[in-house]
Amino acid sequence: MWVVRAHPNGCWLWACTWGPSSQSILCVELESSVEALGRRIGADACLLLRTVAPLGEHNFEMYEHSLRVCLLATSLAAHANSVLGDRCIDLHLAFLGGAWHDIGKLDVPNSVLRAKDFGTKERRAVRRHVSTGFARVALAGYYHVAEVVGLHHAFQADPYGLDPRFCSPVVVGTAKVVAVCDFFDALTTRTDGPFAPEERARSRETVARSFPGSEQWAAWLASTRTGGRAVA
Ligand SMILES: [Fe+2]
Ligand SMILES: [Fe+2]
Repeated sequence: MWVVRAHPNGCWLWACTWGPSSQSILCVELESSVEALGRRIGADACLLLRTVAPLGEHNFEMYEHSLRVCLLATSLAAHANSVLGDRCIDLHLAFLGGAWHDIGKLDVPNSVLRAKDFGTKERRAVRRHVSTGFARVALAGYYHVAEVVGLHHAFQADPYGLDPRFCSPVVVGTAKVVAVCDFFDALTTRTDGPFAPEERARSRETVARSFPGSEQWAAWLASTRTGGRAVA
């Protein structure tokens, strides 16, 4: 059920059955890393943490996954821009898009997110998170971030969500970065995925070592060691 009400950030982005989080969230390293990253790139980390907090109450693994994808996507976006010598990927879009890419899962019942047997009904319910996430973010006025959210499953073998042909090259480039990070985080943290725990750990360590000295990669690595289950 949707309940329209004013949100402290001045919009009604997260106007739904869940309001701002009242639960204290215990993943301090991830959160402080997101804050530090926000300061570094001049983005509003307070807005980000406030708006993602309801996910923590709904499904804690999704909350951690969202923060990790935010860190990964912003880090990869900065790296891609430096390698390509261009600003073809937008850091602020990657920062917010990474954190909000699964915000539509607020509209998916937790029983479905946690279902062991995934049938057609559950799959259809989970797929809705792209359109509801797009709507939430677009209604708040963050149109380009909404496009990133709407696109984050558009680059799979079985794509769904927005059609990339209708989006600008920067939005598409940033959405691809978010999609890669989303997939990588899920693949290396999901306990029900195709890889054994040692393979997942090895992949995480290998990638994190490729980006030495990066605070956000350290926080990501620390968080993935808890072995939380994430749903891409
Ligand atoms: Fe995801
Ligand atoms: Fe998703």
